[in-house]
Amino acid sequence: MASSGQVVAAAAVLLLMQLATTSASFGARDPPPPALREAQAACVKYLGICDNRLRQYNNSVYPTDQDTMCMVRCAGIMVGFWDDTVGFKLDGLISLFPELAAAAHVQHQILSCAEKRIASCPPQDTCAKAYNGFRCFLDAKKSGFGVKDALPAQSQSLKPFDAQEFIRSLSICSKIQRIPKELRNLYVQGVFPNDEKTRSLIRCVGIRTGLYDDEQGPNIPMLYSLFGAGQTEAEFRRRANICINVNQPLLDAQDKNAQAYVKLYRCFAEQFSALIRANANAMV
Ligand SMILES: *[C@@H]1O[C@H](CO)[C@@H](O)[C@H](O)[C@H]1NC(C)=O
Repeated sequence: MASSGQVVAAAAVLLLMQLATTSASFGARDPPPPALREAQAACVKYLGICDNRLRQYNNSVYPTDQDTMCMVRCAGIMVGFWDDTVGFKLDGLISLFPELAAAAHVQHQILSCAEKRIASCPPQDTCAKAYNGFRCFLDAKKSGFGVKDALPAQSQSLKPFDAQEFIRSLSICSKIQRIPKELRNLYVQGVFPNDEKTRSLIRCVGIRTGLYDDEQGPNIPMLYSLFGAGQTEAEFRRRANICINVNQPLLDAQDKNAQAYVKLYRCFAEQFSALIRANANAMV
């Protein structure tokens, strides 16, 4: 027979379990649309933000701290609601949240809020500006767009990876990295000099496209699908590994940008240059 002490203990455990589930669902919020979640995940990796922050962002929780603000700028450039030169871009938000298209007064509210809040940011602080614009959107979203269940959220499935996506990533990462025009002019010719800005750009492109990961290195199956024509995957992998292994000892293990530049770009330099020259007209 259970003693009364055991019964009390069991009841307390049940109560605790119930509290735990209640508070867990209490904190949950709508996850952002898939394209924004993907961009957030890429930006957390690229900016070296602690992994567990991504869980917050995936629940649409965006605290006011420097990491989060710069993550919002990075994701904003990737999905198209922020540009350092143009500023806050409502169109980019509308393509993520189509129900916003029908709510003209909400659009107006977001824009006038963003204008005020961005004007009060330090001029050079593009992270704070992007974040503050986005906050205006989040506030409007919290009170509802005033349109109930407009379009069922389009499955914004990401496009299959191809040369166009690669070129698009180059231009997005050039914006995130604030690459000067002289360097961009070299990139469109398929030339990527070994300087700090370019190394960082290559790492950004790699992470955004999935062609590269700081821990896993180059994604050989994906590179094979881009560049492997005429070879077996095994042969392609063998050649790639020779290049990666020869260079590994020369690389500073702490320098993530240098690692990406060599293992992703240098080992496939001819292929990348050819890909870019073949698609040069698509680049801006
Ligand atoms: C957040 O979302 C991204 C993209 O959907 C996913 O890859 C990642 O695993 C999620 N992370 C967490 C911690 O929820």
